[in-house]
Amino acid sequence: MSTPPPVLVTRRLAPGVIERLTAHHAVTCHDSDLAMDRAALLDAVRGRRAVITTLDDRVDAEFLDAAGPGLAVVANHAVGYHNADVAACAERGVLVTNTPGVLTTATADMAWALLLAATRRLGEGERLLRSGAPWTWAPNFLLGMELAGTPLGVLGMGRIGQAVARRARAFDMPVGYHNRRELPPEQAGGADWKPLEELLATSTVLVVTCPFTADTRHLLDARRLALLPRGAVVVSMTAGVVDEEALAAALESGALFAAAVDNFEREPAVPSALLAQERAVLAPHLGSATVRTRQAMGGLAVDNVLAVLGGSAPLTPVVQPI
Ligand code: DGY
Repeated sequence: MSTPPPVLVTRRLAPGVIERLTAHHAVTCHDSDLAMDRAALLDAVRGRRAVITTLDDRVDAEFLDAAGPGLAVVANHAVGYHNADVAACAERGVLVTNTPGVLTTATADMAWALLLAATRRLGEGERLLRSGAPWTWAPNFLLGMELAGTPLGVLGMGRIGQAVARRARAFDMPVGYHNRRELPPEQAGGADWKPLEELLATSTVLVVTCPFTADTRHLLDARRLALLPRGAVVVSMTAGVVDEEALAAALESGALFAAAVDNFEREPAVPSALLAQERAVLAPHLGSATVRTRQAMGGLAVDNVLAVLGGSAPLTPVVQPI
C-alpha cells in the first residue's frame, strides 16, 4: 500500500489558508463544506502524521487506531475541543491543538448581535414582514427591552466573556460575571464576580460563554434557569451548557422574555421545541463566521501542524504527551 500524503484536512478551509500548508507538505483535503462521514474519515486518517479536524470529527480511540502510530498532531480548527478524547491522545503521544484568541472579537460581536436581536425582537419583526401579514406602527407594537441600566451577567469570563463585557460599557449596562476564579481587576474591567446562583438571580440579560466540558454540561438546567429574574433574556454562545429543552420551556411559560442560541448540542439538529418559540433567535453556529477570523483560525491550525512536523512545539496545544 502506498504511503499517503502526511497531512489530512477534513474540511475545505477559508480562502488562502490551504496554500500555506501545501507550500511545505503534501496534503489531502476533503474539499467540501460538509463533514466527512465516519467511515470515510477513518479510512482517510490511515498513515497520516497530522490531521486538521473540525468539531464534527470525533477524535477517539477508534480514530487514533485507524490513523496508526505515525500520527503526531491533531490540529482542531476551533477553540473548542470537546470532539477530541484528549486523554486517549495524550496516552498515545498525539498532540492536540486548538485555535484560541483569534476568534474572540468575532464571537463577542455575534453575542451582541444576538443579544440585540433577542431584546429588540428582530427575528419576530423580520418574519412578520416576510410573511406579508398586515402590520402598522402602534404604541404597543413589538416592544422590546431597553439595555441602558439593565444588569448583564456573563457566565464564563474567559477571552470571549471579557470581550462581551467590554462591549457592555457602550450600552451603559452594569456587568456581573461568574467564573471559577475571580479575575484581576484589569481583566474584569469593572465587572463584579458573583457566585453562580447570585449571578443568575441578578442578571436581566445573561450571556453564556463558558466552555462546554463534562462539568458545564446542562449547567443551566430548568432549576437554574428559574433563578433568573422573570422576563430575563438568555444568550447562549456555547452548545451543551444551557439545557435546550428547559430553555424552550422557560420561553413557552413566559418566564423568559427572549433567548438567542448560536450553537446546538446535537448539530445540525435544532430542537423542535426551540423552533416553535417566536421569542427564540436561532443562529446556525455563526460565532466565528467572518472571513478574517476563519482565515486566522485556519492559519493557526496550519501553523500548529507546521510547527509539530518541523520538530517544534505547537503554538496552542491543549494536551501534551505524558
Ligand atoms: C469554536 O471554535 O469552538 C467554535 O464553536 C467555532 O466557532
